[in-house]
Amino acid sequence: MANSFSLTTFSSSSSLFIALLLIFSAAASAQLSSTFYSTSCPNALSTIQAAVQSAVANEKRMGASLLRLHFHDCFVQGCDGSVLLDDTSSFTGEKTAGPNQNSIRGFDVVDNIKKQVEAICNQTVSCADILAVAARDSVVALGGPSWTVQLGRRDSTTASLSQANSDIPSPNSNLSALISAFSKKGLSTNDMVALSGAHTIGQARCTVFRTRVYNETNIDASFATSVQGNCPSTGGDNNLSPLDLQTPTTFDNDYYTNLVNKKGLMHSDQQLFNGGSTDSLVNTYSTNPSRFTSDFVTAIVNMGNISPLTGTQGEIRLNCRKTN
Ligand code: HEM
Ligand SMILES: *[C@@H]1O[C@H](CO)[C@@H](O)[C@H](O)[C@H]1NC(C)=O
Ligand SMILES: *[C@@H]1O[C@H](CO)[C@@H](O)[C@H](O)[C@H]1NC(C)=O
Ligand SMILES: *[C@@H]1O[C@H](CO)[C@@H](O)[C@H](O)[C@H]1NC(C)=O
Repeated sequence: MANSFSLTTFSSSSSLFIALLLIFSAAASAQLSSTFYSTSCPNALSTIQAAVQSAVANEKRMGASLLRLHFHDCFVQGCDGSVLLDDTSSFTGEKTAGPNQNSIRGFDVVDNIKKQVEAICNQTVSCADILAVAARDSVVALGGPSWTVQLGRRDSTTASLSQANSDIPSPNSNLSALISAFSKKGLSTNDMVALSGAHTIGQARCTVFRTRVYNETNIDASFATSVQGNCPSTGGDNNLSPLDLQTPTTFDNDYYTNLVNKKGLMHSDQQLFNGGSTDSLVNTYSTNPSRFTSDFVTAIVNMGNISPLTGTQGEIRLNCRKTN
């Protein structure tokens, strides 16, 4: 190696250097594109949107569940569809990780979307891109903002149970742990606060907020009492409560109003408004819905850019639950 370099002339070694630099920088910032399927599968996006609209019409919570799948996908190995892989006797997926088990849902809806997309364009649209588009269409279906989804992610042939356990933030996290979990993925504190606004929709299990509603002091007393009504101090672990008690199936900025009123459901939620560095941003989002909307859109596009597989990396799965 050293010899072959020393034999090259200055000009050819510097152009080699520039070529390598271009290759590495292309790999490092592999570009997604909003028009990725325009010629290869022009009806992909309309097919996904129709399927999401029908799933959300059938059960509004599904919009929340699909949005969360994109988050849990992107925080583990990047947005590569790894969260969708089933465990088998010879393969360990992410579905049994603490943050996922008995918690993430929507796999049947994703299967149905994938089946419809495969029927119009065989092995063209990745499962990772389906999750990114379904997240956007879910937010829109529940009255939230729309945005242009960047596309061209490919699917992983691997999954990481250990990273799902370590990198998806816990509902017991304090503010500094939340900030560092997002920072580890290249996301800012502002992105973290804006993305947490996703908790304006969906439900959580008693087991993840019990300690907060029984034992914490930075909580509105009547809110705590009301949530305790469906979350006994022992038992009832899977009983559900809405993350936003006001409008649980509408994507709005009420999440932040709740935090200002000490009505965050989970410990991690209330951490965003607890006398720390993010209080002022929460205040802003609670009074300025359009600031929330534009910051949320910026942040979810940033999240969708976490370490995608592109080009010839990974594969286009035929079935989102298993590698080809
Ligand atoms: C900031 C750190 C976060 C923590 C600690 C967190 C934690 C949680 C927990 C514990 C639940 C309830 C799970 C259960 O009861 O089984 C939940 C639900 C949910 N999370 Fe998060 N989350 C965070 C950020 C996000 C982000 C960034 C998104 C999406 C952009 C998101 C979207 C959702 C949605 C939509 C639900 C309700 C899901 C449903 O009803 O099926 N979360 N989250
Ligand atoms: C799609 O293509 C793959 C190979 O690329 C093939 O195995 C599969 O049977 C095809 N499916 C359909 C529905 O044509
Ligand atoms: C926040 O949580 C982390 C990890 O659990 C812990 O190491 C740290 O001491 C906590 N920080 C504060 C300010 O409580
Ligand atoms: C609340 O705290 C007390 C005292 O630490 C503890 O015994 C109890 O189990 C806690 N309750 C819940 C629901 O976390």
